[in-house]
Amino acid sequence: MKKAILIGASSGIGRALAKVLVRDGYVVGITARRLPLLQELQQELGDRVLVKSMDVANVPQSMADLSTWLVELGNVDLVVLNAGLGHTNPDLRWDWEDETIRVNVHGIAALANVAMRHFIQHGAGHLVGISSVAGVRGNSRAPAYCASKAFLSTYLDSLRYRARFTRSFVTSSGLRESTVSPEKAVSPVSPRRMTGSIPRNAISLFRRQVIAHTERRDGWNTRQ
Ligand SMILES: NC(=O)c1ccc[n+]([C@@H]2O[C@H](COP(=O)([O-])OP(=O)(O)OC[C@H]3O[C@@H](n4cnc5c(N)ncnc54)[C@H](OP(=O)(O)O)[C@@H]3O)[C@@H](O)[C@H]2O)c1
Repeated sequence: MKKAILIGASSGIGRALAKVLVRDGYVVGITARRLPLLQELQQELGDRVLVKSMDVANVPQSMADLSTWLVELGNVDLVVLNAGLGHTNPDLRWDWEDETIRVNVHGIAALANVAMRHFIQHGAGHLVGISSVAGVRGNSRAPAYCASKAFLSTYLDSLRYRARFTRSFVTSSGLRESTVSPEKAVSPVSPRRMTGSIPRNAISLFRRQVIAHTERRDGWNTRQ
């Protein structure tokens, strides 16, 4: 049975991705800070969903929790780093910029490190991050959010190049272009905002680029 861990699954895109993965036959470990929302999703989706609360901003703890879960679940095929936040911040409040960097950059990079090292050690696995076209160039209203997504995309590109040297079925993807419409690119997500059409775009991209890819491991980074 295929297995996935989804970081940031309590609302929005992550919650929708959890449903897609369960429908596609995965056992899915879901995490976020809002445990009641995760438990509600577990009730809805059944016993193929496992729940753990996690605050990505608490870097040592979330690294340890992901590590443990990867071992406990065993043979995890897919880790999706969806957790993220952003503030429209024209006044450049530092506490908002700092929070965005701590979660979207420091926390997510730490989890990417745990997942990638695990996959390389085990010779297989797919790491996916949910980035944004906001990372392609900056804007005046959300500097930290745009920069954090640029970091994520480039970091995952780099991990993918790194994985090529392993001659194993390991890769990483940063979903970027189609996950977001231009108007959303200048309107970063808030931690509590549910989105409407955007998750559907993200979900169809996810199906095409991630699920299909995870099922076709023969094409992965094996150099002949
Ligand atoms: N919506 C868009 O237009 C859009 C476009 C491009 C990219 N994205 C990206 O897609 C991802 C999801 O966005 P969304 O629109 O679905 O937003 P959302 O509904 O606010 O979902 C964000 C998810 O991240 C989790 N999260 C946030 N901070 C966390 C933390 N410190 N620790 C653990 N989990 C945390 C939230 O869970 P808790 O609050 O329960 O912890 C929630 O499950 C984000 O990375 C975002 O940057 C969104």
